[in-house]
Amino acid sequence: MKQIYFVSFGCQMNVLDAELVLGDFQRSGYRRTDEMRHADFVLINTCSIREHAEDKVWSLLGRARQLKEAKPHIKLGVMGCMAQRVKDDIIRRAPHVDLVLGTSNFRSAVQDLQDIDAGGGRILRTEKRPDPEFLPDADRNVGARPDRFRAYVTIMRGCNHACTYCIVPHTRGPEISRPLDEIMVETRALVADGVREITFLGQNINTYGQDLHPQRKHTGEICTLLEEAAKIDRLDRIRFLTSNPFDMTEGMMRRFGSIPKVMPWLHIPAQSGSDAVLQRMQRTYSVAQYHEVVGWARKHIPGVEITCDFIVGFSGETEEDFEATKRLVREVGFMQTYVFKYSLRPKTLSARRLPDDVPEDVKSRRNVELLAVQDAMAVERNKRLIGKRVEILIEGISKSDDSRVTGRDHSNRLVHCPGDSSMAGLMAVVEIEEAGAHSFIGRRVALEDEPGAWTYRSTSFGDAPAPTAR
Ligand code: SAH
Ligand code: F3S
Repeated sequence: MKQIYFVSFGCQMNVLDAELVLGDFQRSGYRRTDEMRHADFVLINTCSIREHAEDKVWSLLGRARQLKEAKPHIKLGVMGCMAQRVKDDIIRRAPHVDLVLGTSNFRSAVQDLQDIDAGGGRILRTEKRPDPEFLPDADRNVGARPDRFRAYVTIMRGCNHACTYCIVPHTRGPEISRPLDEIMVETRALVADGVREITFLGQNINTYGQDLHPQRKHTGEICTLLEEAAKIDRLDRIRFLTSNPFDMTEGMMRRFGSIPKVMPWLHIPAQSGSDAVLQRMQRTYSVAQYHEVVGWARKHIPGVEITCDFIVGFSGETEEDFEATKRLVREVGFMQTYVFKYSLRPKTLSARRLPDDVPEDVKSRRNVELLAVQDAMAVERNKRLIGKRVEILIEGISKSDDSRVTGRDHSNRLVHCPGDSSMAGLMAVVEIEEAGAHSFIGRRVALEDEPGAWTYRSTSFGDAPAPTAR
């Protein structure tokens, strides 16, 4: 049996792409190995979002080169955003790489590898096809999931926005939506295979479907998609990512809130709390508009929790701008914030027009400070949950304590409670006893179907009682 050593970096979309390509190798009889030196094929799924992510890949390529010198039969492949962005550099700087596959081309990996084995030579595929039927999501091996009970489904790839710092439109191309019926076929197949929670993925799900029906141009196709998915029996939970502050309407929030299976959690990246910085980022909303969107969410989605991304140290960010960002974090009360130091990406609009003028040590300090503001605020906020009951979908044994299991509640909070591995995939009602900045510990009140469990089940969709924590 042939073995593949596979490493993946980056976002949720990359996690899914990893699953797609590994599913193909599994179908073709490959086994995954944890040891690079045992592999016949080494494949790296790359990320370009920050320079650091690319540095890690270069160093891994260095390690693979040494291995290949000792065992020349090993083949080496690079896929994903970095393969797309710096294909020429890879070809030139890393002559030991046999296969380079861009963000739309990686599903040919198995065939390409056979061709290389048969005839030698290197293969480079990075063309982007602006057509849904060439998206790499077709014919998914649904059984190859790393998680038995939760899965990602792509609803669109690429991005039409032009946030000045961002490399994604360059590496993943313009927005292409997948047809609704295709998405539903894939979702049903996953649910038939035991999935209870689906997260729909897109760079900006707010505009899902607009490219499929350019003549209509109406908003809210994403809501239609969620309503369709909610009709699938035995699918219990629906999430989606990313809902940006732009292209969002109050009507869309109202529809999200009216679908019981759509979980009360939204990832709404703000990036900055300063209008001047937002303008330089070309985010197309103001801080006031951001607050308005959060207000719609809280009005229409009971119990909603919001998570957020921020970039610190963007071009021209002053102490005052940064104070405004801290204020936004305190005022909104996010469940979690992800903070990134601005990393200049070649060929982005900001790389061309705006100096990377905040010193590295200032970026680092702001990063730490903003996380401290978030954590202090979250610790206070999370205490309110002590004594309350939440429902979690148990994922498995907790990483930090093997007498506990871990799951996420409706609002995507991380919750630990006593349990064992036989409970994976079940819902449990947990009464929260301890609250930290990032997770909760509680007492298990009831497992699914035991007395005390919530009757909220997919089979009763439509008349499910609102869970008490919502
Ligand atoms: N719309 C996408 C954005 C992907 S990038 C989505 O689905 O969320 C994820 C996050 O990385 C962004 O929200 C931003 O906070 C951060 N990021 C993007 N480009 C960056 C850069 N050049 N430097 C630092 N952080 C960046
Ligand atoms: Fe990037 Fe902005 Fe699109 S952050 S992915 S250009 S919405």
